[in-house]
Formats: sequence, C-alpha cells, structure tokens
Amino acid sequence: MKLTIIGTGYVGLVTGTCFAEVGHQVICVDRDENKVKLLKSGGMPIYEPGLQELVQKNVASGNLSFTNSTVEGVEKSDVIFIAVPTPSMNDGSVDLSFIELVAREIAAAMTSYKIVVDKSTVPVKTGEKVSETIKRYCKAKVEFDVVSNPEFLREGFAVDDFMKPDRVVIGVLTQRPVAAMKEVYEPFNAPIIFTDINSAELIKHAANSFLALKISYINAVSQICEASGANVQEVANGMGMDLRIGRKFLDASLGFGGSCFPKDLSAFIHISEELGYDFALLREVQKINSEQMNRFVKKIIETLWVVKDKTIGVLGLAFKQNTDDVRMSPALDLCLRLQKEGARLRVHDPKAMEKAKAVLKDVIYVDDMNDVADGCDALIIATEWPEFKKLDLERARKALTHPILFDGRNLFDVEEMEKLGFIYKSIGRGR
Ligand code: UGA
Repeated sequence: MKLTIIGTGYVGLVTGTCFAEVGHQVICVDRDENKVKLLKSGGMPIYEPGLQELVQKNVASGNLSFTNSTVEGVEKSDVIFIAVPTPSMNDGSVDLSFIELVAREIAAAMTSYKIVVDKSTVPVKTGEKVSETIKRYCKAKVEFDVVSNPEFLREGFAVDDFMKPDRVVIGVLTQRPVAAMKEVYEPFNAPIIFTDINSAELIKHAANSFLALKISYINAVSQICEASGANVQEVANGMGMDLRIGRKFLDASLGFGGSCFPKDLSAFIHISEELGYDFALLREVQKINSEQMNRFVKKIIETLWVVKDKTIGVLGLAFKQNTDDVRMSPALDLCLRLQKEGARLRVHDPKAMEKAKAVLKDVIYVDDMNDVADGCDALIIATEWPEFKKLDLERARKALTHPILFDGRNLFDVEEMEKLGFIYKSIGRGR
C-alpha cells in the first residue's frame, strides 16, 4: 500500500520504517529540513537498536523515502498517518497545535478520498476535532475518514514492539476505512481490535497510566520492604507469577521517566477532570513517583553526610536502557539534584552522553564505565543498562575512596556486593 507518515520522531520514524520493511511504499514527511537531509544520507537523529539498518535497507530498496513536502506526501498516498509531538502545557493539558496544523495542511493538500490516521497520543475526542478541522479547511471538498491508531512501542525496543505487537488498536467512525486498515496491518499477524475512535484514544492513555501505576505500586511496596527487611524483587517475583498480575513493569526503581508516562499521566488526570471525574488515584501515582526519587536522594545524603565537594560517579543518564533519550530522565534529575547539593560528578552513559551535554554541564563525562569510579567518594547506578551488570566491581571498589555504591535499579545481588566489601544501598531490599 502507499502510506505517508507525517512526523519523523520516535513513533513516526519507526512506524514508517517498519511499514516499509513489510512491503508497503512509505513516504516520511518532516518539516525539519536538516532531519530529512540526515535521514536521506543514511544518518539517524535518534539511537534505537536495529533502526538505522532497517532505514538504510528500505531506502535502498525504494520502499522508504523522506521529504519536507506534506503536499507530496498527501498526493502520493491513500493513507496518511499523523505522528507529530503532543507536548504537555504548564497545567498538564496537552498542546494539540501540531496536530491541528498538520490536519489543516492535509486538508489543503487533499484532492481525492484519504484515510487520515492519528498515531500520536492524544486526549479522547481529538479525532472529532481533527475531522471538523479537515472538513473546514479542505477546499476540494473530497471525502475522507479519520481513524485513531494509537502506538504502544517502547523506546529501546521500538522495532521489535512494532513488528510483533501484542495488539493493534484501530478506532473508526464508519466501516469505510476498515478494509484498508486491515490491509495495512495484515503482514504483522497481530490481533486487531476495531473500536470507536473515542475508545481507541482512551485505550492509549488508560494503558500508559496503568503501567505507570504498576511501577508506583511496586515502588510503594519497596518502601514497606525497606522498613520491614523484606526484598522487593522476591515480592515482585511472587506477585508476578500470578498470571492476572504478571511480572512485567514490577521493577522497583528511582521512579519512571521519559517522554510518555509523566506527560500521559498529567494529560489523563486533566482530561478526566474536564469530563467531571477526579482521578485521585493517578495523582497518587505521580506523588509516589516523585517521593521515590526524594527518598533515594535522602539515602545518598544520609550516607555521605555532607555531599558538598564530594565526588560522585553516576552510571546512566538516559531515562531507561537502550536509548539515548534523556527527556524527563530520572538519572539526569538525580545528577542535577546532587549538583545542587554541591557534589562534583563523573558521569557515563553508553549512548546518552551527547544528548545529556545540552542539559548537564560542569561534570566530567567519562568514556569507559570502568573509569567512572576513579577518585569518587561513591558510585550510583541510575539507569538499567544491561552492560552495567558487567562493571568491573573489583576495580570499582579499589578506585572508590570508600566503597559505597547506591543502586537505583537493583542490578546486583545484595549479599554478593557485601561479600565483595561494598557498602551497598539499593531499592526496597531490606537495608
Ligand atoms: C511507554 C510504554 O511502555 C509504551 O507502551 C508506549 O508506547 C510509550 O510509553 C509511549 O506512550 O510512546 P517508554 O516511555 O518508551 O514506553 O518506556 P518504558 O519501557 O515504558 O519505561 C518508562 C519508564 O519506566 C522508564 O523510566 C523505566 O526505567 C521505568 N520503569 C519501567 C521502571 O521504573 N520499572 C519498570 O518495571 C518498568
């Protein structure tokens, strides 16, 4: 099929590339000329495992192309996906101006029937607004259908998540776009849920908020574990074996971050309020999340007593493993708080150092994770990169002035760390 994706951020670029990989003819549109140039030349604006190879392969085969022109994208395709950012406003509501702008641009360029699919995360009832906007701005007065198709991919696992989705959600107002949408997703062999547009939009916010709730739940349990001497990992394993609960997203941490959960929680709370429901449960999820970071910082300060002028090593800057994304990163937030306390920082991240440099200044960026501890008073693990499990612990212990390690991601075994001679403080594990 001929498909156009407007917006080449995480969602748009992965969507376009994976659609091309399964044989569709895809045009990706972005108004950022530099980004389009970079992508055309085989470069990547983001780090996402496996993505660059797929982009290069599909550009070479002619299935994938990039342009600045929305008009070209609309003319050449029958199905147009909107995948532009929907950032947070100060009051927690969603800024939908990019969606509105793209809807107007599509409307102005349409000369024949089109299916306009929203893939961006949007508040319930946005589809109705997009439909009204297209009707208003389409001079050619051609027919069209608006569809909601929320995306559930995770950064760091995006290609895999897109190619093998648990489910595909498609919200429609009429039956007309159903056959085409089935054809778009047919190669993925995934269960497809057809529903109304409002429900599809809600599924996305409800799912992300539930996952955030699951993390806050285990983080709250981690506090009880610390106070009682229990081990949160054992508790999560025991809970997770109940198929109704599941083990995924029950890893206690220094809190969730990223460009989705914090924003989507605020948005969902805000939308609910507008619809007359006070979603106090989700406000509590937010509160637990910020308390979790406060408690971790407190633990560091209590252990080091005076943080001012101490040198602290931090492993991890990205908001999670397998990504160079530092937006709303708990690791970065932690670094900034420690700087405020007067600490000097030596930091490392396998992929996110370049992006962190724009936000985190006056620190020493260290290329090799094993060199971070050199001359430090303590070492912190802030992101769950799997390579940190391979840290040379013997070397780190000797390099630290005192062998203190704070693990915000529970990567190591408590007993083994103590046997190795560390003062090891992790999350929700007894001490
Ligand atoms: C999230 C959802 O998982 C995706 O399904 C969704 O498509 C995406 O948002 C989106 O709306 O675009 P993402 O933000 O990429 O994906 O990352 P997650 O893997 O969900 O992690 C979010 C945060 O939670 C990270 O900071 C991670 O470290 C933290 N986390 C995750 C925990 O602290 N504990 C866990 O058990 C799992």
